Amino acid sequence: MSELMQQLKACLAHVREKTDRVPEFGLVLGSGLGFLAEQVENPVVIEYADMPGFPVSTVEGHASRLVLGELSGRSVAIMQGRFHYYEGYPMERLVLGVRLMAQLGAKAMLVTNAAGGIRQGMKPGELMLIEDHINFMGDNPLIGTNPKELGTRFPDMSDAYTTDLREQAKSIAADLGIPVSQGIYAAFTGPSYETPAEIRLLSKLGADAVGMSTIPEVIAASHMKLKVLGISCISNLASGISDQPLSHAEVTETAERVRHVFSRLVIELVGRLKID
Ligand code: HPA
Repeated sequence: MSELMQQLKACLAHVREKTDRVPEFGLVLGSGLGFLAEQVENPVVIEYADMPGFPVSTVEGHASRLVLGELSGRSVAIMQGRFHYYEGYPMERLVLGVRLMAQLGAKAMLVTNAAGGIRQGMKPGELMLIEDHINFMGDNPLIGTNPKELGTRFPDMSDAYTTDLREQAKSIAADLGIPVSQGIYAAFTGPSYETPAEIRLLSKLGADAVGMSTIPEVIAASHMKLKVLGISCISNLASGISDQPLSHAEVTETAERVRHVFSRLVIELVGRLKID
């Protein structure tokens, strides 16, 4: 068995010592939404630090634990706190949590992030359903040996952000009276924010928003044939789009401001999305 599969099996065994729960949904929550893990009913909490090979998030405000339980009556696994490439972890380690959620039985993944808005007319606080991505991180989590148990060597990415889930999400959001847009998410590694020239480049290439996460997780999820719904909270206008310098404080302030409506949307989506 490959080293990766051994590691995954060890993580799986560790979780299975604590719970038999089979999650339907895996949730990877970015800035501001980690608190949803506290609303899980019948929670079983597993610290990443207790799982072999699991990295621990170093970003302030990001907890590092996996929470299994029920949200909106649905069986879920929530990664409270996610890992970033800029923290220095290899991509393969970054996606261990997503792979573990699939091994636990999850059929779909809901991933959220904060992102800078590029498309004209975007406003901080806007929620954008991710339609597709552009990977400018210069790496891919699938580089290396490819355990067949996980997926094919050359996975198709033409519907990595599952169209059906996105269409359902649009109608659920409309039902709730929560405005959502749709767009293309691009990511650089960070941790420095982009330059105005980089944002002009991304704009010309068709990107609507930019961030530093999500793409590795979605590639790994899609590789394992999980359905994916991605949502960006536009926390700021991207570099050079406004004359304000960018700051992490602005990102967290916006995430905090919209967290009520964003979390309501996520809770309803978890309860109402049909996965198959
Ligand atoms: N750029 C990159 N990542 C981000 C941004 C941004 O403007 N806002 C939130 N995350």
